[in-house]
Amino acid sequence: MTAAPNLPPAYSLVALDEVDSTNDEARRLAEAGADDGTLVWAQVQREGRGRRGSAWVSPKGNLYLSLVLRPECAAAEAVQLSFVAALAVADALSGLVPPMSEIRFKWPNDVLLNRQKVAGILIESSTTAPGRLDWLVVGIGVNVAAAPDDVSPPATSLRGEGCRPVTVVEVLEGLSRHFFVWVNRWLDDGFAPVRKAWLRQAGGKGEAITVNLPDESFTGIFADIDGRGALIVELADGARRVVTAGEVFLGGAR
Ligand code: BTN
Repeated sequence: MTAAPNLPPAYSLVALDEVDSTNDEARRLAEAGADDGTLVWAQVQREGRGRRGSAWVSPKGNLYLSLVLRPECAAAEAVQLSFVAALAVADALSGLVPPMSEIRFKWPNDVLLNRQKVAGILIESSTTAPGRLDWLVVGIGVNVAAAPDDVSPPATSLRGEGCRPVTVVEVLEGLSRHFFVWVNRWLDDGFAPVRKAWLRQAGGKGEAITVNLPDESFTGIFADIDGRGALIVELADGARRVVTAGEVFLGGAR
């Protein structure tokens, strides 16, 4: 029998062999009243989901988890948890990857290892009137053993980047520990320290990026993120555009 993962005591584990999506299971549990800290982990997802309706291919060997949280905050602040999650992923992976590996963030919530996507984050929430959060699910997928081909941005895995053999449980334990630290920092001190740490590891800061919005695409310089997590892009004429949702490509026009 394998030992149960060693998680922060604040988290209660729901471990599943297989599920449609850990985010869907976490949502069902949240709607049924699950406590803050309920952590759904599955070996395989049949219908793993990514952002913008994309599929997240989820074979055995990678990490799929979703954490139910019930923070006392405005619904609009929920997006900040994706930066918290990215920092936790980066901290968890930094002890596992070979020396000289580069872990960077791409707005809003991709984690890149050597310029390829190694983890994705999907935040979903439910609000109560007036604009307060009822529950929030932080879904995180980490490519431990394998990454899909032919995806944009290109993906990689820990194994693909030459990490020492690492188990999914090891990544789960490290990630939940670092998430616990970062989420408490956010709860205690707000978004400022999270923003500062995220910017330190952001890819492409001060460089050209292309932003794809539903109806248009534009290129500018990645200048900053603001105090709510929105992306600030400086245009050729010096004007600044604030983007709250969109897809970013590092580098020039695309
Ligand atoms: C992205 O598009 O980058 C977000 C991917 C999020 C994938 C994770 S895997 C665990 C959780 N369950 C899901 O169905 N999606 C998230």
